[in-house]
Amino acid sequence: MADLVDTLRDTLTADDGLSLVAEHDGQVVGHVMFTRGLLDAPRRLVDVHVLSPLAVVPPLHGHGIGSALVRHGLRILAERAVPLVWLEGDPRYYTRFGFAAGGGLGFRRPSLRIPDGAFQVLRLPEYEPWMTGTLVYAEPFWRHDAVGLRDPGV
Ligand SMILES: CC(C)(COP(=O)(O)OP(=O)(O)OC[C@H]1O[C@@H](n2cnc3c(N)ncnc32)[C@H](O)[C@@H]1OP(=O)(O)O)[C@@H](O)C(=O)NCCC(=O)NCCS
Repeated sequence: MADLVDTLRDTLTADDGLSLVAEHDGQVVGHVMFTRGLLDAPRRLVDVHVLSPLAVVPPLHGHGIGSALVRHGLRILAERAVPLVWLEGDPRYYTRFGFAAGGGLGFRRPSLRIPDGAFQVLRLPEYEPWMTGTLVYAEPFWRHDAVGLRDPGV
């Protein structure tokens, strides 16, 4: 995961992607990253963002740090007119931010190895109904084999 984060960090620019940290007593205690991906929609390719990774140091779990990082990031992306944000994660956590299963909303997973329920999307104000299609992850996710779950039995 650390290698993936390093590679993703190299893709960030002032207008594209986001890396936010939470600090407590001068220490970094939480981090979230949003990076650019593509939606292969019928009309054209659409710039979207992918939330990954999100982590908070275990002793401070349950204090709202993860939620604050996610909400702050989503506000910035909405201001930048990003229409859609994706993630792979536990719906029990991410529904609180408005994320919903992407499969039921006209979207296709970038890999069949992403469980249906884990493939989640948030539609921001710039979203328009024609924006359907397949999510295409940025190259670093493939390079680091960080898409979906591998079958340990194979
Ligand atoms: C997920 C994580 C970032 C949440 O950070 P946090 O600061 O503890 O989150 P918050 O304090 O904002 O929210 C806590 C709530 O999330 C819930 N929660 C945390 N992880 C959850 C999970 N995997 N599934 C369901 N609920 C979860 C807690 O039970 C708590 O619920 P409550 O609000 O009903 O009490 C943190 O648990 C973490 O770093 N986990 C390890 C890394 C990880 O799993 N990252 C996400 C990968 S998709």
